[in-house]
Amino acid sequence: VSLTAMNTMSIPASARWFAEVTSDQDLQALLEVAAQRNLATLILGGGSNLIFAGDFEGLVLHMSITGRRWEEIEGDSAVLVLGAGENWHESVLYAASAGYRGIENLALIPGTAGAAPVQNIGAYGVELKDTLVSVTAFDRKTGEWVVLANEECGFGYRDSLFKHQPGRYVITELRLRLCRSRELSLGYADLANYFDGADTSALTPLDVAQAVMAVRRRKLPEPQKIPNAGSFFKNPVVDLKVWDELRLAYPDMPGYPGERTAKLAAAWLIDRCGWKGFRNDRVGVHNRQALVLINHSGGSGSDVLALAERIRQDVMAKFGIALEMEPGVIPPDGALRV
Ligand code: EPU
Repeated sequence: VSLTAMNTMSIPASARWFAEVTSDQDLQALLEVAAQRNLATLILGGGSNLIFAGDFEGLVLHMSITGRRWEEIEGDSAVLVLGAGENWHESVLYAASAGYRGIENLALIPGTAGAAPVQNIGAYGVELKDTLVSVTAFDRKTGEWVVLANEECGFGYRDSLFKHQPGRYVITELRLRLCRSRELSLGYADLANYFDGADTSALTPLDVAQAVMAVRRRKLPEPQKIPNAGSFFKNPVVDLKVWDELRLAYPDMPGYPGERTAKLAAAWLIDRCGWKGFRNDRVGVHNRQALVLINHSGGSGSDVLALAERIRQDVMAKFGIALEMEPGVIPPDGALRV
């Protein structure tokens, strides 16, 4: 089965075995088959945050468990329950249209609801962990169903327990606590600029979702038109000492200093190394956002990874900063077996 249309970077790859998962029972049965036959498995959502290093020699389980419902409605607040296979962006619009606030800044992030906790998706000053109550998952290590509360998910910047124990948990459902009256988050520079001078007191969450969509469309390429996997590297976090030194050398370098560490802008570092708009005959760097690598003409996983490596080496040589990749690399032999 071809996976090319199932990853937003359009990397040509195929799966030896493939199945759609539409229920908890399907999932358990298919995992048992995989275990009996000693097949490597890959749980695939929207394919927006992975790079196939080659063909996948095992069983790909495409997560298609759907369902959206409201529970625990208490005054202004309610819990939105999402099946792992639901499209993330449509779920954001669904919540925002109902007047519920909390995830509107995460509009237009590609992928499925079930993948959102894995990297703790975040944009425009909001992260999934700010509203996530719990996830339901199948624990392949113990063979049991578990409900992991927010605090148990080990969330950090683009990070979670699910990244540290790859393949162990298969997320089937999320619970998000949303509220009709919480404050909107409009502080992130791009969003603040968008609303500059406007009266923001009567904004609805849908207005904010639409603003985020407009801002993203200005800078980020649509995967359907220009295959990409969003930000290709994480924004590096460094000690304040390093930040102070860098600021002396590069006074215009953007960054977000905290108490002990500062987050740098990987896009700026890459841009400064001259990579923005670069292209060879297959892959390149987006001309409006240097953090986004694009596959403009049938590039393979190795083409993309080779370009990423050259960028990483340049940033290391010029700034002494090690960039860390954001998407996961999927090896053909299924390192994801548990
Ligand atoms: N910049 C450059 N050159 C560029 C692009 C940006 O110098 O080509 C500078 C900007 O001027 C700004 C700084 O870099 O000072 C940061 O840029 P931006 O606000 O566009 O955000 P980012 O740090 O590049 C992060 C997330 C995005 C998210 C946006 C908005 C990561 C790795 N990326 O990007 O997430 O949408 O902030 O919150 O944290 C994703 O993860 O796939 C993703 C798109």
